[in-house]
Amino acid sequence: MQTRSILAGVGGYLPERVMTNAEFAGRIETSDEWIRERTGIGQRHFASEHETCAYMGAEASRAALRAAGAGPDDVDAIIPATATPDQAFPSTALHVQAALGVTRGFGFDVSAACAGFIYALSVADAMIRTGQATGVLVIGSEVYSRILNWQDRTTCVLFGDGAGAVFLTAGAGEGSGDRGVLSTHLRAQGDLANILYVDGAVGRPDRPGHLVMHGREVFRHAVGKLAEAVELALSANGLSPADVDWLVPHQANLRIIDAVGRKLGLPKERVVVTVDRHANTSAASVPLALAEATRDGRIRRGDLVLLEALGGGLTWGSALVRM
Ligand code: UT7
Repeated sequence: MQTRSILAGVGGYLPERVMTNAEFAGRIETSDEWIRERTGIGQRHFASEHETCAYMGAEASRAALRAAGAGPDDVDAIIPATATPDQAFPSTALHVQAALGVTRGFGFDVSAACAGFIYALSVADAMIRTGQATGVLVIGSEVYSRILNWQDRTTCVLFGDGAGAVFLTAGAGEGSGDRGVLSTHLRAQGDLANILYVDGAVGRPDRPGHLVMHGREVFRHAVGKLAEAVELALSANGLSPADVDWLVPHQANLRIIDAVGRKLGLPKERVVVTVDRHANTSAASVPLALAEATRDGRIRRGDLVLLEALGGGLTWGSALVRM
């Protein structure tokens, strides 16, 4: 039997500080009503100084390892997805490695904006299938609060901070049934870079970098491209929407989540939503939602779970997983 990547444990971390829409309304020209109606967001978590990308990634990883009944010695690869690392290098992966006390293997970061977790999952799955790793922490960790333009009401109300992680193990077939990552599909379109980007980087001392988004344009691409990505995931596995137990979508906007759910014909009860409390945590949003629905018992072993995300680049993708 072919080696599969089993999701042995899932974990999440959210900063303590919560900022409500009402707090924004006191500072910029916006309202709780506008934010809720257009996005479904009611609040978001913002990191304090010590809650860096690496710190939160390590905390989420600890939770994922705990859930898997595993420890640092079981980890031989660490693959975080992030657009907001603590440093240009060393990578977030190596900070997490040191924080957890992992002493073997390797690690590197993946950069694919909000689709980063799906990209990192795809890379980790390929490495497990080809025998290059046997215990991989796949992480999404983001501190978008550090790159938001607080004067731009069209973006600063949309994002939050947090981290999610899964611990993938190599399933030997026996006893693992048909569990594991069934497929991943990745896509990108670089000529759409100008509708969602950060206008700087650490290599640009003149510009620390702020997020810029042409929301309406991104919205238009998101619904079509995400629907296409989930349909691809299903057809590649000979499955239909009726087979899906849970859709765990990227949490950017409730209207996008509802539109993709409707296209699939999935009832709302089978779609995991956290955007109301987390806002858009970019690469962390899918693993955070997965962690929440696993912890509260909605997603159970054997469930078929469809993951999707789209972000700056544009980048997008989907993954189908049997828990
Ligand atoms: O995670 C990466 C992927 N990102 C996404 O998927 C985000 C996709 N885009 C969206 O979610 C939506 O386009 C937004 C939530 C960003 C915006 O919603 P919209 O319904 O597309 O609004 P809009 O940009 O068309 O703006 C409508 C109006 C504008 O005013 P005028 O020009 O009609 O007078 C905006 O200036 O709403 C105004 N507006 C606001 N008003 C109050 C924009 N932001 C705000 C705000 N508060 N925070």
